[in-house]
Amino acid sequence: MSVNENYLNSANLPVHIGFIMDGNGRWAKARKLTRTHGHSAGVTAMEKIIRHCGDLGIRYVTFYAFSTENWSRPKAEVDFLMNLFSTYMDKIISDIKRGKMEAHFRFIGNLDVFSNSFREKIQYISEKTAENSSNITVNVAVNYGGRAEIVHAVNSFISENPNKIITEKDITERLYTGLLPDPDMIIRTAGESRLSNFLLWQGSYSEIYIASVCWPDFTPDELDKALEDYGRRTRKFGGLSE
Ligand code: IPE
Ligand code: IPE
Ligand code: MG
Repeated sequence: MSVNENYLNSANLPVHIGFIMDGNGRWAKARKLTRTHGHSAGVTAMEKIIRHCGDLGIRYVTFYAFSTENWSRPKAEVDFLMNLFSTYMDKIISDIKRGKMEAHFRFIGNLDVFSNSFREKIQYISEKTAENSSNITVNVAVNYGGRAEIVHAVNSFISENPNKIITEKDITERLYTGLLPDPDMIIRTAGESRLSNFLLWQGSYSEIYIASVCWPDFTPDELDKALEDYGRRTRKFGGLSE
Protein backbone atom coordinates (compact mmCIF):
# COMPACT_ATOMS: atom_id res chain seq x y z
CA MET A 1 0.00 0.00 0.00
CA SER A 2 1.56 3.26 -1.11
CA VAL A 3 -0.53 5.65 0.98
CA ASN A 4 -0.53 6.35 4.71
CA GLU A 5 -3.36 4.13 6.02
CA ASN A 6 -4.21 6.63 8.80
CA TYR A 7 -5.88 8.76 6.18
CA LEU A 8 -8.22 5.92 5.28
CA ASN A 9 -9.75 5.80 8.79
CA SER A 10 -13.39 6.73 8.74
CA ALA A 11 -12.79 9.88 10.86
CA ASN A 12 -10.62 11.36 8.09
CA LEU A 13 -12.75 10.33 5.14
CA PRO A 14 -15.16 12.52 3.18
CA VAL A 15 -18.84 11.69 3.69
CA HIS A 16 -19.71 12.56 0.09
CA ILE A 17 -17.39 12.54 -2.95
CA GLY A 18 -18.27 13.91 -6.39
CA PHE A 19 -16.45 12.48 -9.42
CA ILE A 20 -16.06 14.33 -12.72
CA MET A 21 -15.16 11.35 -14.88
CA ASP A 22 -13.13 13.05 -17.60
CA GLY A 23 -10.64 11.80 -20.18
CA ASN A 24 -12.32 8.71 -21.63
CA GLY A 25 -11.66 9.99 -25.17
CA ARG A 26 -8.01 10.78 -24.49
CA TRP A 27 -7.50 7.39 -22.82
CA ALA A 28 -8.81 5.68 -25.96
CA LYS A 29 -6.86 7.91 -28.35
CA ALA A 30 -3.59 7.10 -26.55
CA ARG A 31 -4.33 3.41 -27.22
CA LYS A 32 -5.41 3.98 -30.84
CA LEU A 33 -8.93 2.91 -29.92
CA THR A 34 -12.20 4.68 -30.71
CA ARG A 35 -13.66 7.10 -28.13
CA THR A 36 -16.43 4.58 -27.49
CA HIS A 37 -13.89 2.09 -26.11
CA GLY A 38 -12.88 4.79 -23.66
CA HIS A 39 -16.46 5.22 -22.47
CA SER A 40 -16.88 1.45 -21.97
CA ALA A 41 -13.62 1.32 -19.99
CA GLY A 42 -14.97 4.28 -17.98
CA VAL A 43 -17.95 2.24 -16.78
CA THR A 44 -15.64 -0.54 -15.57
CA ALA A 45 -13.54 2.03 -13.68
CA MET A 46 -16.69 3.47 -12.11
CA GLU A 47 -17.82 0.02 -10.91
CA LYS A 48 -14.45 -0.57 -9.22
CA ILE A 49 -14.55 2.86 -7.54
CA ILE A 50 -18.10 2.22 -6.23
CA ARG A 51 -16.96 -1.09 -4.69
CA HIS A 52 -13.90 0.52 -3.14
CA CYS A 53 -15.89 3.44 -1.71
CA GLY A 54 -18.38 0.94 -0.25
CA ASP A 55 -15.52 -1.04 1.35
CA LEU A 56 -14.06 2.15 2.85
CA GLY A 57 -17.44 3.12 4.32
CA ILE A 58 -17.99 6.25 2.23
CA ARG A 59 -21.70 7.10 2.45
CA TYR A 60 -22.39 9.08 -0.74
CA VAL A 61 -20.78 9.25 -4.18
CA THR A 62 -21.97 11.27 -7.17
CA PHE A 63 -20.71 10.48 -10.67
CA TYR A 64 -20.98 13.03 -13.47
CA ALA A 65 -21.89 10.80 -16.41
CA PHE A 66 -23.50 13.16 -18.96
CA SER A 67 -23.84 16.94 -18.84
CA THR A 68 -26.51 19.19 -20.32
CA GLU A 69 -23.75 20.37 -22.68
CA ASN A 70 -22.70 16.87 -23.81
CA TRP A 71 -25.66 16.74 -26.25
CA SER A 72 -23.51 18.93 -28.51
CA ARG A 73 -21.24 15.95 -29.28
CA PRO A 74 -21.61 13.98 -32.53
CA LYS A 75 -24.87 12.02 -32.61
CA ALA A 76 -23.05 8.68 -32.89
CA GLU A 77 -21.18 9.34 -29.63
CA VAL A 78 -24.33 10.54 -27.83
CA ASP A 79 -26.23 7.45 -29.06
CA PHE A 80 -23.41 5.19 -27.88
CA LEU A 81 -23.41 6.81 -24.43
CA MET A 82 -27.20 6.45 -24.10
CA ASN A 83 -26.91 2.75 -25.03
CA LEU A 84 -24.08 2.35 -22.54
CA PHE A 85 -26.20 3.84 -19.73
CA SER A 86 -29.07 1.60 -20.72
CA THR A 87 -26.86 -1.52 -20.67
CA TYR A 88 -25.38 -0.43 -17.34
CA MET A 89 -28.90 -0.10 -15.92
CA ASP A 90 -29.79 -3.58 -17.24
CA LYS A 91 -26.79 -4.94 -15.37
CA ILE A 92 -27.92 -3.21 -12.15
CA ILE A 93 -31.45 -4.58 -12.64
CA SER A 94 -30.09 -8.10 -13.10
CA ASP A 95 -27.99 -7.70 -9.91
CA ILE A 96 -31.10 -6.50 -8.05
CA LYS A 97 -33.06 -9.54 -9.24
CA ARG A 98 -30.27 -11.89 -8.10
CA GLY A 99 -30.13 -10.16 -4.69
CA LYS A 100 -26.58 -8.99 -5.45
CA MET A 101 -27.04 -5.22 -5.36
CA GLU A 102 -26.06 -3.63 -2.06
CA ALA A 103 -25.86 0.04 -3.10
CA HIS A 104 -28.69 2.55 -3.20
CA PHE A 105 -28.81 4.11 -6.69
CA ARG A 106 -30.30 7.51 -7.54
CA PHE A 107 -30.29 9.41 -10.82
CA ILE A 108 -29.98 13.19 -10.83
CA GLY A 109 -30.50 15.64 -13.66
CA ASN A 110 -33.36 16.60 -15.93
CA LEU A 111 -34.72 13.12 -16.62
CA ASP A 112 -37.80 14.36 -18.54
CA VAL A 113 -35.93 14.26 -21.86
CA PHE A 114 -35.35 10.50 -21.75
CA SER A 115 -37.52 7.83 -23.36
CA ASN A 116 -40.19 6.02 -21.36
CA SER A 117 -38.20 2.80 -21.23
CA PHE A 118 -35.12 4.67 -20.00
CA ARG A 119 -37.14 6.43 -17.29
CA GLU A 120 -38.85 3.17 -16.28
CA LYS A 121 -35.44 1.59 -15.67
CA ILE A 122 -34.35 4.61 -13.61
CA GLN A 123 -37.51 4.42 -11.53
CA TYR A 124 -37.26 0.66 -11.01
CA ILE A 125 -33.63 0.89 -9.87
CA SER A 126 -34.25 3.87 -7.58
CA GLU A 127 -37.25 2.20 -5.93
CA LYS A 128 -35.77 -1.28 -5.59
CA THR A 129 -32.44 -0.11 -4.18
CA ALA A 130 -33.97 2.43 -1.77
CA GLU A 131 -34.09 -0.30 0.87
CA ASN A 132 -30.27 -0.40 0.69
CA SER A 133 -30.07 3.24 1.82
CA SER A 134 -28.10 2.37 4.96
CA ASN A 135 -25.26 1.31 2.62
CA ILE A 136 -23.47 3.51 0.06
CA THR A 137 -25.71 5.83 -1.99
CA VAL A 138 -24.60 6.23 -5.62
CA ASN A 139 -25.92 9.24 -7.54
CA VAL A 140 -25.52 9.11 -11.29
CA ALA A 141 -25.77 12.56 -12.91
CA VAL A 142 -27.27 12.27 -16.40
CA ASN A 143 -28.44 15.25 -18.43
CA TYR A 144 -27.20 17.14 -15.41
CA GLY A 145 -26.20 20.81 -15.33
CA GLY A 146 -25.62 22.83 -12.18
CA ARG A 147 -27.15 25.98 -13.66
CA ALA A 148 -30.23 24.15 -14.95
CA GLU A 149 -30.61 22.55 -11.51
CA ILE A 150 -30.63 25.95 -9.76
CA VAL A 151 -33.08 27.41 -12.30
CA HIS A 152 -35.33 24.36 -11.81
CA ALA A 153 -35.21 24.83 -8.02
CA VAL A 154 -36.04 28.55 -8.25
CA ASN A 155 -38.91 27.96 -10.69
CA SER A 156 -40.44 25.24 -8.55
CA PHE A 157 -40.26 27.57 -5.53
CA ILE A 158 -41.91 30.43 -7.44
CA SER A 159 -44.74 28.24 -8.69
CA GLU A 160 -45.45 27.01 -5.13
CA ASN A 161 -44.90 30.39 -3.43
CA PRO A 162 -45.76 33.31 -5.68
CA ASN A 163 -44.69 36.70 -4.23
CA LYS A 164 -42.46 35.23 -1.53
CA ILE A 165 -38.76 36.00 -1.07
CA ILE A 166 -36.59 32.93 -1.77
CA THR A 167 -33.94 31.75 0.72
CA GLU A 168 -30.85 29.53 0.38
CA LYS A 169 -32.72 26.77 2.20
CA ASP A 170 -35.61 27.02 -0.31
CA ILE A 171 -33.16 26.42 -3.14
CA THR A 172 -31.17 23.66 -1.40
CA GLU A 173 -34.35 21.68 -0.67
CA ARG A 174 -35.38 21.76 -4.33
CA LEU A 175 -32.09 20.65 -5.90
CA TYR A 176 -31.92 17.24 -7.60
CA THR A 177 -29.60 16.13 -4.79
CA GLY A 178 -32.38 16.87 -2.25
CA LEU A 179 -31.31 16.45 1.33
CA LEU A 180 -27.96 14.85 0.49
CA PRO A 181 -25.01 16.45 2.31
CA ASP A 182 -22.82 18.70 0.14
CA PRO A 183 -19.81 16.94 -1.41
CA ASP A 184 -16.77 17.25 0.86
CA MET A 185 -14.53 16.53 -2.08
CA ILE A 186 -14.83 16.77 -5.87
CA ILE A 187 -12.35 14.70 -7.87
CA ARG A 188 -11.74 15.41 -11.55
CA THR A 189 -9.55 13.24 -13.72
CA ALA A 190 -7.49 13.90 -16.87
CA GLY A 191 -5.77 16.94 -15.40
CA GLU A 192 -8.48 19.50 -16.17
CA SER A 193 -9.02 22.15 -13.48
CA ARG A 194 -12.65 23.14 -14.01
CA LEU A 195 -16.10 22.22 -12.74
CA SER A 196 -17.84 22.12 -16.14
CA ASN A 197 -21.26 22.86 -14.57
CA PHE A 198 -21.04 20.11 -11.90
CA LEU A 199 -22.67 20.63 -8.47
CA LEU A 200 -22.25 24.41 -8.64
CA TRP A 201 -24.45 25.11 -5.62
CA GLN A 202 -23.47 22.09 -3.53
CA GLY A 203 -19.75 22.43 -4.26
CA SER A 204 -19.31 25.86 -2.65
CA TYR A 205 -16.85 24.52 -0.06
CA SER A 206 -15.84 21.21 -1.65
CA GLU A 207 -12.16 20.34 -1.64
CA ILE A 208 -11.11 20.00 -5.28
CA TYR A 209 -8.67 17.26 -6.28
CA ILE A 210 -7.32 16.99 -9.81
CA ALA A 211 -5.92 13.61 -10.83
CA SER A 212 -3.65 13.58 -13.88
CA VAL A 213 -4.76 10.10 -15.03
CA CYS A 214 -7.69 9.70 -17.41
CA TRP A 215 -10.88 8.30 -15.86
CA PRO A 216 -10.44 4.66 -17.09
CA ASP A 217 -7.07 4.65 -15.26
CA PHE A 218 -8.53 6.05 -12.02
CA THR A 219 -8.07 2.91 -9.91
CA PRO A 220 -8.86 2.34 -6.22
CA ASP A 221 -5.14 3.09 -5.52
CA GLU A 222 -5.57 6.48 -7.23
CA LEU A 223 -8.59 7.13 -5.02
CA ASP A 224 -6.56 6.25 -1.92
CA LYS A 225 -3.98 8.87 -2.97
CA ALA A 226 -6.75 11.46 -3.29
CA LEU A 227 -8.14 10.52 0.13
CA GLU A 228 -4.71 10.83 1.71
CA ASP A 229 -4.41 14.31 0.19
CA TYR A 230 -7.89 15.19 1.50
CA GLY A 231 -6.97 14.00 4.99
CA ARG A 232 -4.03 16.43 5.11
CA ARG A 233 -6.15 19.48 4.26
CA THR A 234 -7.67 22.01 6.65
CA ARG A 235 -11.21 23.04 5.83
CA LYS A 236 -12.06 26.52 7.01
CA PHE A 237 -15.50 27.42 5.58
CA GLY A 238 -14.61 31.09 5.70
CA GLY A 239 -13.51 30.99 9.33
CA LEU A 240 -10.10 30.65 10.93
CA SER A 241 -8.49 27.24 11.38
CA GLU A 242 -6.92 27.86 14.82
C1 IPE B 1 -15.74 11.97 -20.11
O1 IPE B 1 -14.74 11.71 -21.04
C2 IPE B 1 -17.05 11.28 -20.45
C3 IPE B 1 -18.16 12.20 -20.79
C4 IPE B 1 -18.11 13.49 -20.81
C5 IPE B 1 -19.41 11.56 -21.16
P1 IPE B 1 -14.64 12.59 -22.36
O2 IPE B 1 -15.46 11.96 -23.43
O3 IPE B 1 -14.93 14.02 -22.08
O4 IPE B 1 -13.09 12.40 -22.73
P2 IPE B 1 -12.10 13.51 -23.29
O5 IPE B 1 -12.19 14.71 -22.39
O6 IPE B 1 -12.57 13.82 -24.69
O7 IPE B 1 -10.75 12.86 -23.27
C1 IPE C 1 -17.51 17.03 -17.96
O1 IPE C 1 -16.62 16.63 -18.92
C2 IPE C 1 -18.80 16.26 -18.07
C3 IPE C 1 -18.73 14.88 -17.64
C4 IPE C 1 -17.70 14.28 -17.11
C5 IPE C 1 -19.95 14.13 -17.80
P1 IPE C 1 -16.51 17.38 -20.36
O2 IPE C 1 -15.45 16.68 -21.10
O3 IPE C 1 -17.86 17.44 -20.97
O4 IPE C 1 -16.08 18.85 -19.93
P2 IPE C 1 -15.31 19.98 -20.75
O5 IPE C 1 -16.04 20.14 -22.05
O6 IPE C 1 -13.90 19.51 -20.95
O7 IPE C 1 -15.35 21.19 -19.87
MG1 MG D 1 -13.82 15.63 -21.54
